[in-house]
Amino acid sequence: MEKGRAIAERQCTMCHSLAPNGPSFIGPDLFGVFGTHVGDIPGYEFSEALKAHKDETWTNATLSAWLAGPSDYAPGTKMSFPGIASETDRADLIAYLRSLHAETP
Ligand code: HEC
Repeated sequence: MEKGRAIAERQCTMCHSLAPNGPSFIGPDLFGVFGTHVGDIPGYEFSEALKAHKDETWTNATLSAWLAGPSDYAPGTKMSFPGIASETDRADLIAYLRSLHAETP
């Protein structure tokens, strides 16, 4: 989780808040995103590309696929991020994202 926090601070916080009830910047606030439906944060205007996945939820598997290559998972997404090739780094990052919860799932 600590490794994941370092990755998030380096690679995600220029576009995302990680704070409870944090604001949207370029991307939506990610506190509590684990376990929610894809593209379902009130007040944030998601792309059609991501909304096409709204029947899915953010699990280990969907987050890993998304973070490996956002534009492979959702072609046309407005998250301009190349992706994280290392499976270990993605696992660390997802462990950290899971911890950003009022109640850790
Ligand atoms: C250059 C800005 C940028 C960077 C860097 C970035 N994101 Fe994003 N992110 C976005 C945008 C914009 C969206 C909305 C995408 C859409 O609607 O297509 C998004 C959406 C997301 C979502 C979907 C949220 C939901 O509720 O469906 C997750 C999860 C996410 N980003 C995680 C991350 C993580 C983790 C990192 C760091 C590894 C990261 N992002 C880096 C801009 C960014």
